[in-house]
Amino acid sequence: MTSLLSAEHLTKSFGATPALSGASMSVAAGEIVAVMGPSGSGKSTLLHCLAGIVRPDSGVVRYRDRELSAMSDAGRSALRRGEFGFVFQFGQLVPELTCLENVALPLRLDGVRRRQAQRRAAGWLDRLEIDDVAGKRPGEVSGGQGQRVAVARALVTGARVVFADEPTGALDSLNGERVMKLFTAAARESGAAVVLVTHEPRVAAWSDREVVVRDGKALDLERAA
Ligand SMILES: Nc1ncnc2c1ncn2[C@@H]1O[C@H](COP(=O)(O)OP(=O)(O)OP(=O)(O)O)[C@@H](O)[C@H]1O
Ligand SMILES: [Mg+2]
Repeated sequence: MTSLLSAEHLTKSFGATPALSGASMSVAAGEIVAVMGPSGSGKSTLLHCLAGIVRPDSGVVRYRDRELSAMSDAGRSALRRGEFGFVFQFGQLVPELTCLENVALPLRLDGVRRRQAQRRAAGWLDRLEIDDVAGKRPGEVSGGQGQRVAVARALVTGARVVFADEPTGALDSLNGERVMKLFTAAARESGAAVVLVTHEPRVAAWSDREVVVRDGKALDLERAA
């Protein structure tokens, strides 16, 4: 399979602490890859390098035919805004905006008119089965509903890759499973690839492939057939 996004031999240290020491992995278009591994092994750092948020000390990150490290900061942020979506563990929604406005926000920033942006946002809330929270603010909804709002916001712009760092880490397992199911179904429906950091072993059920990170190295595991 040709890869949409790939990392080759990444190294990254924070001061004297090595976070990545030769990590490689790739994601194909529309593929859902679960990134697993012990705490401190380098999963978040790998995800941040793939997303162009952190610049590796050495190694190459490629999106389509473009090398992220060769791009300007402005070029990389344009890429992140236009092609990537993000779902993090918490603290990502704007508390002053309603859930509908939060989902519509990336479209508004892209210059989409309010009514059109809100219509598209409402469609995503519907798909994630949370139309009832449209008018509420993030502080007034449950953790699972908030995470589904974040998923809707990551997908609303038609992102080609969605990065998720333990998106259900703050939820109980039942809620986490529900969010994960809706998230992966929505990603599949929109054709977005997903790079998903998780501690949840049952995530195999939703992913196409697992990558295990250990001591800053990534091991690509072909899922057992
Ligand atoms: N901003 C930073 N400053 C200093 N050290 C850092 C920083 N970010 C990560 N590290 C270190 O790099 C290593 C890898 O961290 P990383 O956050 O990538 O691990 P992780 O696999 O995501 O862990 P967890 O499962 O706990 O989230 C760790 O030793 C960590 O302490
Ligand atoms: Mg982490």
